[in-house]
Amino acid sequence: MTEINSVTTLTRDGDIAVITLNSPPVNALSAKVREGLHEGFKSANASDAKAIVLICDGRTFIAGADITEFGGAMAGPSLQDVQDMMEGSPKPVIAAIHGTALGGGLEVALCAHYRVAVPSARVGLPEVNLGLLPGAGGTQRLPRIVGVEAALDMVTSGRHVPAKQALAMGLVDELVEEGKLFEGALAFARKAVADGKPLVKVRDNNAKLEAAKGHPEIFADFRKANARKFRGFLAPEYNIRCIEAAVNSATFEEGLKAERKLFTELMMGAQSAAQRYYFFAERQANKIPDVPDDTPLRPIKRVGILGAGTMGGGIAMNFLNVGIPVTIVEVQEAALERGLSTIRKNYERSRTAKAEETEARMALLSGSLDFDKLGDCDLIIEAVFERMDIKKDIFARLDKVAKPGAILASNTSYLDIDEIASVTSRPQDVIGLHFFSPANVMKLLEVIRGEKTAKDVIATSMKLAKQIGKIAVLAGVCPGFIGNRMLSQRQREAQKLVMEGAMPWDVDRVLYDFGFPMGPFAMSDLAGLDIGWVKENSKGETIRDVLCEMDRRGQKTGAGYYDYDENRNAVPSPVTEKIINDFIVKSGANPRKISDEEILERCVYPMINEGAKILEEGKAIRPSDIDVVWVNGYGWPVYRGGPMHYGDLVGPDKVLAKMQEFQATMGEAFKPSALLEKLVADGKKFSDIKA
Ligand code: 3HC
Ligand code: NAI
Repeated sequence: MTEINSVTTLTRDGDIAVITLNSPPVNALSAKVREGLHEGFKSANASDAKAIVLICDGRTFIAGADITEFGGAMAGPSLQDVQDMMEGSPKPVIAAIHGTALGGGLEVALCAHYRVAVPSARVGLPEVNLGLLPGAGGTQRLPRIVGVEAALDMVTSGRHVPAKQALAMGLVDELVEEGKLFEGALAFARKAVADGKPLVKVRDNNAKLEAAKGHPEIFADFRKANARKFRGFLAPEYNIRCIEAAVNSATFEEGLKAERKLFTELMMGAQSAAQRYYFFAERQANKIPDVPDDTPLRPIKRVGILGAGTMGGGIAMNFLNVGIPVTIVEVQEAALERGLSTIRKNYERSRTAKAEETEARMALLSGSLDFDKLGDCDLIIEAVFERMDIKKDIFARLDKVAKPGAILASNTSYLDIDEIASVTSRPQDVIGLHFFSPANVMKLLEVIRGEKTAKDVIATSMKLAKQIGKIAVLAGVCPGFIGNRMLSQRQREAQKLVMEGAMPWDVDRVLYDFGFPMGPFAMSDLAGLDIGWVKENSKGETIRDVLCEMDRRGQKTGAGYYDYDENRNAVPSPVTEKIINDFIVKSGANPRKISDEEILERCVYPMINEGAKILEEGKAIRPSDIDVVWVNGYGWPVYRGGPMHYGDLVGPDKVLAKMQEFQATMGEAFKPSALLEKLVADGKKFSDIKA
């Protein structure tokens, strides 16, 4: 065995040279790895070996370029040097893939002459999710194997293609038995030598590109079909242009040059910086300074849920999906029936779940009106009406019924978890698990740590979140926690702006153009204006009251802030405009023309300021956690990183100056956070704040 460097070895198995990478956690293409590969292939190429196998130790094949190195100076051999060494090898090179071959990892594998994989492996070019494109020839080689349409899909979705599908697409040449990758790759290499198989260079294979030449409509149609999905993002368009370049360039090198130019542009831009920041933000959120990774977990084998309403049903599905039995307890028979049948309908409507899967999941679900049925649950999540008296009553009863050590969770949106915990004899077992609606779809889970919540309860909740496919963020107890607390700021300003002269569609347009999926008024129309509205108490005191009294209760009644045409398209409503104008006249205010810039600053800066207050009070661990909440729970455009990242981009000094200006003219709602003031005084940014 030759040790090439600290992460690479070169060994021999008979006639076959074997290069093994071992650079945990994911064998990313760091300078060391590139050096190891370069030197390894150089030696193997020069040796008398008849073929070369590239294989990785640990959990995965190369998962991509090392993202932590982006933006820094390049050290050691470039990725292209490595690729040239492989592709130009005078003997067959075989990449042996397990885990994930992603991004630069797949681009390396595409420079091997052959690829073998185990069935559990997945391959993909997920650079688009980092605001990038595959910058090591991926956009030029991929369409040469899979064709233009499949390549467009892969590079713009970043999806991980399972090995079996990769085989069918030609990305992989052979599947070998699970757990026997090394043996399988060696056998493949020996056969390649024995059969005198050609040294296939993907770059030379132009047939699939020829087929797409002279058909620009392929690209036009693809852009059109995905316009909504790609809105605001640069990277999908740049990826498409690269595939276009593959088709239209006279040579492979020319296409490569176009790819490199577009890659560099993305890499230098703000969108990719935000998306790379976000990649690490999501992974950071799992790390809780005083809850070590090895904290023992409480086993969760059965989950109980109280309330089969909007949230209870959706929450239940998360656990059923991963095979954890669920008991739902209701007070009303009809609500229970409705809740259970909604779950079934959701499964039946889902395109992914097969009939037998629906039955298997439903078989894990039981419903009851008997509170005592919760006695054998390891985790009980309360999702009943948002009223403290009801929640306290329930937790007092849970305290008597739940088995010792069971985690008692509330899905409350705003209420004080400590107050809820105080009615139990075991506040250490009480936690907030704030799911977002629809709870079976939305990725975010705010985990609310009470004053007395035990560390193992926190660790178990974070782990469980991962198990059910959620992205969890830990928050402290305060009204609305992280997300809704900041949302309240935006909502207040949106309402005020309308009373000052902006129309709901002006506010919505500005936020939509910023990158949110919809603005606050369109959102209200979608959710229903009558949430929390009580007809008997309504006295026409707010715009919403009047709209509801007119039965303009949102999309479901065909009108709300907006009118809706037959295709459910929102159109600005003269009725709403008149109601607003009447309110303004009645209030004696002077409506004024409000600029788009002011709308954005009024809606977004108070959110950043509130985020700073949340940090200052220790209710979020780090600024990036707040960003994870907003990207996953509220549709903040990921290419703007999240509100705190955006605050850094604008500049904390500029945010502070605006808050001070607003405070002077509009009052204490805009009082700057002490933390924001301190950051500016110290010349620092949110990103300087560590957990
Ligand atoms: N570079 C640097 N670090 C990386 C990394 C990468 N490409 N991929 C993962 N890591 C780190 C993570 O930050 C994490 O670190 P931590 O333990 O300190 O938090 C650790 O590896 C494990 O990652 P995950 O927690 O995400 O582990 P999972 O097992 O859940 O997922 C994975 C593994 C599917 C490989 C996932 O990490 C992933 O999707 N990684 C990114 C893949 C990617 O985007 N590749 C393309 C990179 S860009 C590129 O290649 C450009 C090229 O075209 C030139
Ligand atoms: P919902 O009104 O749809 O459902 C509540 C259900 O609880 C009803 O079916 C009711 O019959 C049942 N219930 C009432 N008292 C009960 C009791 N003592 N025991 C058992 N069941 C009882 O309400 P929704 O929207 O599901 O909200 C539930 C909780 O989730 C609230 O605390 C809410 O703030 C929170 N939440 C709601 C979100 C939403 O978008 N709807 C989002 C996140 C949290």
